[in-house]
Amino acid sequence: MTSTKNKELRDVPHQWWKISLFNLIQLKWNGWDFFQQQIEKHQSTVFSAKIFNDWTTFVCDHVAVAAVLDMTKTERSKTGHGFLELRPEMMLGQTPCVFSVGEGHQIHKPFIMNFVAKSYEKQKPNMVAIIEKEFKVLSKHGMGGASSVDWEGMFSTAAKRVICHMLLGVHIEDITPLEKYTQGMLAMEKMPGESNTLIENIMTIFNKVDSIKNLSIQFSNSGLTQEEMFKDICYVVCLDASNAITIFVLNSLYCYLRLTCDDKQLLKTEADQYFKDPEQTDLSALPNLHKFFTEMLRWSSKAFIYGKAKSDFQLDSTSGKFRINKGDLLCALPYFIHRDDQLFENPDQFDMHRNPEESEKYNFTYGGRFLGQSTPSNHRCAGFSLSRDVVKTFILFFTRCQFEQIGVTEWTGGYISRKYASDEPLKLSSFKFE
Ligand code: HEM
Repeated sequence: MTSTKNKELRDVPHQWWKISLFNLIQLKWNGWDFFQQQIEKHQSTVFSAKIFNDWTTFVCDHVAVAAVLDMTKTERSKTGHGFLELRPEMMLGQTPCVFSVGEGHQIHKPFIMNFVAKSYEKQKPNMVAIIEKEFKVLSKHGMGGASSVDWEGMFSTAAKRVICHMLLGVHIEDITPLEKYTQGMLAMEKMPGESNTLIENIMTIFNKVDSIKNLSIQFSNSGLTQEEMFKDICYVVCLDASNAITIFVLNSLYCYLRLTCDDKQLLKTEADQYFKDPEQTDLSALPNLHKFFTEMLRWSSKAFIYGKAKSDFQLDSTSGKFRINKGDLLCALPYFIHRDDQLFENPDQFDMHRNPEESEKYNFTYGGRFLGQSTPSNHRCAGFSLSRDVVKTFILFFTRCQFEQIGVTEWTGGYISRKYASDEPLKLSSFKFE
């Protein structure tokens, strides 16, 4: 929504009622439409609503998002934010990088970036084999009784095992303790057990991993102790990587299943080329795969990007200029940028033939500009290259599978609590990988 009327600096429009429960009910009932209704009601892509305890200024256009991403203007809250409040007793006595501010972030982010880059370099030659192993497991479940299998859960486990292997260099067969720890960290979720037990269980797993036993020797210049690096890795695996990778592997699957046969064939041709010699084939040089990937990110992204105003400032947006006061909580919703009809033709349609340059330019799925850099001075994803290549390789593997779906998967955006781009979990009558 672009408005030329509002050139004056004004206050952010907000609702007259202050009862967050009413908004929560609306949100649950209407899903993403709740925010769309606010945009329309206020005739503004910037508006304020009280969802939990705090008023939040929601930012839904590509101009205004710049202020939320600008860490000279905003900073994180150490305990999480909005939908993601972290349970203090689960924090291992350290703030995860994604929530850290100032000096803390300046030290922890470079360490994580180096750790991820090193892990990826080591495991890259094994990536296809690591993913293939999971598809073979999935295929076993596809033989007989496929309709009773929890496919969403199966693909989620596969994605998590792969990302753990890529980061830690080992296959972890049972990832349940990691999942339980992650759920325990998030205050929104019901506590699945005593916090001490959850922490002990993941510590037992991480303590056995050779690649993280001697971090202080491998990363001697990081400025962090062995214990601090160890905790960083626990957060990266459990909080950042496992969840995000699952969401995007599953979203890719839901998007893949919507493709026409011709489009599936385009991806298959590139997959054949890649699997002939994965080490010599650059994933970014496969054009249809890249178009599919960027469109999947655009279409299905549900990221929330938070920041608290460090001082008073003027927020520029496509709806005019707004007064932001020190301490205001801002939340950018890239979903609405990705659905802006001024930027994308028929934005609600999944179309893998869009110009990828446009999709990249206005894409904020990774907590920053797709074409930007991850740095110690921003919160853009530290796992960008690794996760992009893992997700792309999963997509190529889909072309080697036969899916027989029971019913089609719809996505109305009506269920805010659904992480994936389908209203209901995937149902298959058969699944075969070859
Ligand atoms: C497709 C998969 C992924 C997506 C879409 C994704 C997306 C994001 C987003 C949106 C943020 C910003 C969060 C915020 O501002 O609150 C973020 C931050 C982060 N991500 Fe990812 N992520 C993915 C996978 C990964 C992986 C595999 C890793 C680790 C290897 C990782 C590590 C991180 C870290 C450490 C941060 C915090 C960066 C900072 O505070 O500066 N992510 N990611």
